Amino acid sequence: MKLSVIGCGYLGAVHAAAMASIGHEVVGIDVDDRKVASLSSGVAPFFEPGLQEILTAGLASGNLRFTTDISEARGAEVHFIGVGTPQQKDGHAADLTFVNAAVDGLLPHLAAGDVVAGKSTVPVGTAAALSPRIEAAGAVLVWNPEFLREGFAVTDTVDPDRLVVGIDANATGAEPAIEKIRSVYRPAVAKGTPFIVTDLATAELVKVAANAFLATKISFINAMAEIAEVTGADVTQLADAIGHDVRIGRRFLGAGIGFGGGCLPKDIRAFAARAEELGRRDSVGFLREVDAINLRRRERAAALVVDALGGSVVGKRVTVLGAAFKPYSDDIRDSPALDVAVRLRGLGADVTVTDPQAIENARRQHPQLTYVQDRDDALRNADAVIIVTEWDEYRRHLTPEHAGSLVAGRVIIDGRNCLDAVAWRAAGWSYHGMGRP
Ligand code: UGA
Repeated sequence: MKLSVIGCGYLGAVHAAAMASIGHEVVGIDVDDRKVASLSSGVAPFFEPGLQEILTAGLASGNLRFTTDISEARGAEVHFIGVGTPQQKDGHAADLTFVNAAVDGLLPHLAAGDVVAGKSTVPVGTAAALSPRIEAAGAVLVWNPEFLREGFAVTDTVDPDRLVVGIDANATGAEPAIEKIRSVYRPAVAKGTPFIVTDLATAELVKVAANAFLATKISFINAMAEIAEVTGADVTQLADAIGHDVRIGRRFLGAGIGFGGGCLPKDIRAFAARAEELGRRDSVGFLREVDAINLRRRERAAALVVDALGGSVVGKRVTVLGAAFKPYSDDIRDSPALDVAVRLRGLGADVTVTDPQAIENARRQHPQLTYVQDRDDALRNADAVIIVTEWDEYRRHLTPEHAGSLVAGRVIIDGRNCLDAVAWRAAGWSYHGMGRP
């Protein structure tokens, strides 16, 4: 099929290349000419495992191209909208500027029977508001939320765990529109991937509800970590024990410095803001608590470093392992790792940050920090080390003995509870987990 994808960020670029990889003819469209030039020349503009390969293959096959000219969406049967919906500068609600601009830009190029498929995460009610203009052009609007995880974006796109398509069942052309979306995802559908057809509001809500649930799960275990800290309990063992209950499950019970990234933090805030607009402030009032617990963990991590260094970090060399908000990504949006680094610097520490992929992005946002690409160089002469992004380079491949041969002081703070405390202590380190004795 001929597809257009409007917005070529973490979501759209992967979607465009992934759709080309399953045989569609795709044009990716973005207003950022540098991003388009990079993608067109076959260079992935950000780090995402597997993206480079499908980008190269897509360009070579002729199935994939990128442009800044939205009129090139003309002729596509399905137009995906994958632009960002960041947090508003002066509030918690989502900023829909890019979604509105994408739809405005697309409208003159729509043909009767085209499907516009929203993938961006939007406040419930957005699709219904956009729909009349799209219908007036003879096209049909569906909402097809995206559940991909950064770091696994390519596999999550090609082989998702579910497909959700929201549509106004009374809209002209609703049935053929659903069939077109089914055809787009034919390989996944043929495999038996659940394909859930619902109304527009439910589809929009599925997305924010999923992210709100995940954020709540993380903050739940971090709240338990806070209790563990004053009782001498071990939150990692607690998580293992409750996680054996299949109704609870162990995944997303990783206590530590909490969640960040371009999605979870802004999505729970936007959800709470939207609920308030809808007169249901109290229904998701707990999300404010989820946010507060999450932010407290960053503060707690910095405090742990201070305590571990005897009450002050002033003039102390602290090496921060990680800058990205999670491993296998170079994304530093609302990164708890960088937040901790900035806090430590604010407390007077001499901070050195290292990360396998995210240094360039981090430097742009926080030029005041010192960055060292090589892990071992970064560790050299440190008075304390804090691991804040659980890259394999730090979690698996760094032994306490090797690290110990580089640092000035064997003090480690495990901001992700990802190290073997027994092994680090046995090697003479003063080990401090989060919510662990
Ligand atoms: C999240 C969702 O997981 C995706 O399903 C969704 O599609 C995406 O947002 C989105 O809305 O686009 P992502 O932001 O890539 O995906 O990252 P996650 O894997 O959810 O991790 C989010 C944060 O939670 C990271 O900072 C991670 O370190 C942290 N986390 C995760 C924990 O602190 N503890 C855990 O147990 C798990």
